[in-house]
Amino acid sequence: MFSFAKEMAAVLAGCSILAAGATVFAADSGGDSLKWWQKAAVYQIYPKSFADTDGDGVGDLPGITEHLDYIGSLGAKAVWLTPIYPSPMVDNGYDISDYTAIDPSYGTMEDFEKLVADGKKRKIRMVMDLVFNHSSEQHAWFLESKQSRTNPKADWYIWRDAKPDGSAPTNWRSIFGGSAWTWCEERQQYYLHTFAAQQPDLNWENPEVRQALYDAARFWIDKGIGGFRIDAITYIKKPAFVDGTPDAEDGMVGIHSMTANTEGILDFLHEFKREVFAGRDIFTVGEANGVVPADLPKWVGKDGVFDMVFEFSHMNLPLKNGETWCRPTEWKLTELKDALTASQNVTKENGWCPVFFENHDQPRCVNHFFPKGADTEKAAKTMAAVLLTLRGTPFIYEGQELGFANVAWPSIDDYNDISSHGQYKIALQEGFSPEQAMEFVHFFSRDNARTPMQWNTDAQAGFTKGTPWLPVHEDYASVNALVEAGNPGSVLSWYRTLAKFRREHRELTEGAYEELMPEDEQIFAFARTAGKRQIITAANFSLKEAKLPAEFLLGKRQLLGTMPKGETKILRPLETRIYEAVLE
Ligand code: NOJ
Repeated sequence: MFSFAKEMAAVLAGCSILAAGATVFAADSGGDSLKWWQKAAVYQIYPKSFADTDGDGVGDLPGITEHLDYIGSLGAKAVWLTPIYPSPMVDNGYDISDYTAIDPSYGTMEDFEKLVADGKKRKIRMVMDLVFNHSSEQHAWFLESKQSRTNPKADWYIWRDAKPDGSAPTNWRSIFGGSAWTWCEERQQYYLHTFAAQQPDLNWENPEVRQALYDAARFWIDKGIGGFRIDAITYIKKPAFVDGTPDAEDGMVGIHSMTANTEGILDFLHEFKREVFAGRDIFTVGEANGVVPADLPKWVGKDGVFDMVFEFSHMNLPLKNGETWCRPTEWKLTELKDALTASQNVTKENGWCPVFFENHDQPRCVNHFFPKGADTEKAAKTMAAVLLTLRGTPFIYEGQELGFANVAWPSIDDYNDISSHGQYKIALQEGFSPEQAMEFVHFFSRDNARTPMQWNTDAQAGFTKGTPWLPVHEDYASVNALVEAGNPGSVLSWYRTLAKFRREHRELTEGAYEELMPEDEQIFAFARTAGKRQIITAANFSLKEAKLPAEFLLGKRQLLGTMPKGETKILRPLETRIYEAVLE
């Protein structure tokens, strides 16, 4: 284990990479009109992969408690924990068998309470993941529901008769592949599952179901948490159960295109808000696949249902031609900028965005958003600068702050992620060779984001004393928290520098967003303005030098940069600079 005191010394050393005279105006507590979660960053933890204290190869809650100071050093005031409830772990916890308990592999309820209490001492609050579109097939509710068509919970899930020929009620394909309907012998009916067969969808039309879910959410509020991330929430309202036009050789249509964000969903969500969240000092962030920037005013802000939603236009760029991984497309920087700018602009007057480039379902950002062959460390720093200077609450996903990159294991059998297996099969069905199918897995597999956290240079990167449930990335000797804390030029030190800078410049929390040079295919540049003061970010996402126009540089002074000072008018490949300007 490494010492936090040593780490902090390194943080302070890290600050020396500030450009000369970087601190231009004093720390400002401003932003009082903003709520605590608008001024802070959120750190996302995949508990299974974060820190294992009992040597079983699986991370646990005491492991998180041990690292609260590390998390705080990134400016985080909230920790989003992906599900820690009891679960058969078919989808690593997103298949919940009890909504108000802790899975024994993660620890006990006392461990959770200690985590909340120790977090509070540091002003870091826990955020629970509510998985309310579906439960596990092992949940007591489903075990009862499946027994007969007449039991008290018969209507708690979505049951339908077979078509006259015995086939599934509709031709919908589940998100993980295969039919979205599974036959149940006991009831002689099919049940619907948006995801795996082990994740049956709950029937939100039934008010008893909704009340049971609200009770579960209130249970965690009473434990003193700081918020909720609400999983797959755009799928809770099912439209008519009709076939869709097949979109692939299997004769099926992706369920997402049939059920995401359909008419009537907001009625459920307004009730959810009224019953559970309203008037509580917590924040909510909904996972909103299928919501586009134009929809945001109905979802967030004063008439909305959540404080923020994860809207995926920018994350889905490589998939814009379809939901399946085997149809990746090329995309341009202007498309990424347009997607981000659209949600920034829609929420300008009303509403708030989470800013995110990674999570436990996505490729690592250095692979996702930069050209092949990009230097990982440089790309990671550029992404960090954008993440921490855009308007909104930045979400840092574990390992992102160290510059984690994708893995590329040789065989599909090396992969744990259930969706990688489904997508691999779809790619083969579509006629791709096993090698091509593996290329898709290498890029998109969710295991990219789930390899264990790299704490130091010990065996298994200090993550566990046992055998980790998923292999540690081979780069751990140099990419780890201990080594990076001691290196002022590391990705980790850069994150800490940015966290401090963000704290000290209210433009970055309160300031309005304005995109600059929108047509540029190399540089993402934007200004954040509060009163007469501006902070401007210019990030070169390309592997070539990029020229900064003379008028852009006018009146700007560089405060920070991802590289030592260079030629004023040229941004080197993957270089980002942060400037200040004072308006007339
Ligand atoms: C979205 C979650 O982020 C993902 O990990 C999970 O597999 C699905 N929802 C199903 O709960």
